[in-house]
Amino acid sequence: MPDSTDHDGHAEPSGHGAAGAHEPPKMVEASLDSPQFQVAAANPERVERGIAVMFVLGVVGFAGFGAAFWQNWSNVWLGVTLAVGFFGLGIGMVAWGKYLMPRGPFSESRHTNEPTDEEREVFLQDLSSRGKIALGRRSYLLKILSVAGGIFGIVAIFPLLRSLGPLPGSLFYNTSWKKGSYLVSPEGRYVHIDDLDKGGVLTVFPENDVGGPLSQTILIRPETSGYVVTAPGRETWGPEGYLAFSKVCTHAGCPVALYQKALDELLCPCHQSIFEVGPGRPATPVFGPAPRPLPQLPLYVDSKGYLRAQNRYDEPVGPGFWERGNL
Ligand code: FES
Repeated sequence: MPDSTDHDGHAEPSGHGAAGAHEPPKMVEASLDSPQFQVAAANPERVERGIAVMFVLGVVGFAGFGAAFWQNWSNVWLGVTLAVGFFGLGIGMVAWGKYLMPRGPFSESRHTNEPTDEEREVFLQDLSSRGKIALGRRSYLLKILSVAGGIFGIVAIFPLLRSLGPLPGSLFYNTSWKKGSYLVSPEGRYVHIDDLDKGGVLTVFPENDVGGPLSQTILIRPETSGYVVTAPGRETWGPEGYLAFSKVCTHAGCPVALYQKALDELLCPCHQSIFEVGPGRPATPVFGPAPRPLPQLPLYVDSKGYLRAQNRYDEPVGPGFWERGNL
């Protein structure tokens, strides 16, 4: 096996480790005849001349660039001369490094610093006894530090929770509609039984939340008299031909603003969900992405002929959310 050589050009026997863990390796003087100093070129003189030609080409290119710059020649000349300069210089340097530099390998020996088992044992004993003494003497400080760290960890959670915003409470379940609420128009006028003809439509709100986005309700009149029964259990919800449904689309919450009286359908313009309404048609979606029917508001007509809510919506309005049981 050949001797290895350090960065100072000294070669040393490769079997130095056998001499002992703590003994410095012996240095052996290197010479140009050492295998590490051999170059890759088969004919170094010839390669040397080629590299010299490349360097001269680089000199010419850079000199030309200087002249072109001085004489204010066109950009083409500037580019060409600069390219020639870098080309000559680059090729020459690469060739020099590849063909005329010693091939090595070069290595530098290292001493083995591994401690003996005995030294390791002494160190561990020393470390643990010092740690015990140093920390044991201030044990109460350790306890206080632990308490402080624990409290800080708990307190650090507060801003995180607060950033989630206020708790929604019953917001997802209830609107401002309640038992006895008057139906009022967007202008705040109470809706009377004579206000709509057959096929008529009107947006209504409870009187205490006119304009409320969750309370908005679409009032339609498919018939002019009698009860319109959309589903079993809703026999009294549609008096005098009136029906009321939440206007908040069950897909993404857009207002379900269009009523096609010829087909008895409500249409959401956002993504074209269509809901069938009328006798036996409880606003069931028959087209589009809406996943469930529009909630129906139960109505009654009071003694003065005004339309009022029998009760609040019996299910959440709007798009589905994670706690809704009927999705
Ligand atoms: S919001 Fe009504 S269909 Fe998408």
